[in-house]
Amino acid sequence: MLLYRASPPGLLCYNAAAMDEPLRLIDTHSHLALPQFDADREAVIARAAEAGVARMIEIGYDLPSSRAAIALAEAHPAIFAVVGIQPNHAHELPDGWEHTLRSLCAHPKVVAIGEIGLDYYWMKAPPPQQESLFRAQLALARTLGLPVVIHSRDAQHDTVRILHEDARGQPGIMHSFSGDWAYAEACLELGFLLSFSGPLTFPKATELHEVARRAPLERLLSETDSPYLSPHPYRGQRNEPARVRLVVERLAALRDQPLETVAARIWANAGQLFRRMGPTL
Ligand code: NI
Repeated sequence: MLLYRASPPGLLCYNAAAMDEPLRLIDTHSHLALPQFDADREAVIARAAEAGVARMIEIGYDLPSSRAAIALAEAHPAIFAVVGIQPNHAHELPDGWEHTLRSLCAHPKVVAIGEIGLDYYWMKAPPPQQESLFRAQLALARTLGLPVVIHSRDAQHDTVRILHEDARGQPGIMHSFSGDWAYAEACLELGFLLSFSGPLTFPKATELHEVARRAPLERLLSETDSPYLSPHPYRGQRNEPARVRLVVERLAALRDQPLETVAARIWANAGQLFRRMGPTL
């Protein structure tokens, strides 16, 4: 194993195949607690395991979905939870939300706070309201020593501004990264990781392809955002964690690196970021 890791890239692929070592993949962002999976949730989780997806991170977007994420993580050793309030719920915060969120974070399978950020596409809450919720959760994450999972839609400028002011050097992920190289560089400079999802596999996603080629491998992650963002050739269908493999395959092809190398590095990146998951990796 050590031998083929030290080999030049060209040999790596061949030798790794000869080793027949199974890939270990991670889906860092899914919403399996949603009703879209009510009919076959266990089968979806089993298919992920068969496809080599050895870890899945279930993401909350409000308090009920955060509790549901923890329940799913309690029921499945391969699933971990992220809890938080997404900007589309900034206008309907329940009383005492901060206290509740803090207590949910005490659960041992909670590995980060998220998804949090800004959403100017749906604009369900005015930007100042989104911003104050975003900052409050960044502060909570800092206090608790947890990484953050960032949701940013049509709000690149404000996202970078707020992260620069409040979260510089704080560990975190730009979830389902979408944007050009300049935006990617700004996120990398802040110390954030870029997590790629299904759109990376779309033939016309040339901006994303450039980011995937240029960003350092040690700053990349993989996700599905299931049930959304299904990769090519399943675009438009319900997504599921097993398909994270298509994202990692595309990433490896774009970077001209062996799939085994890319998958192993992403696995290690996730372990370093989500420290509470670390001991089990
Ligand atoms: Ni999401």
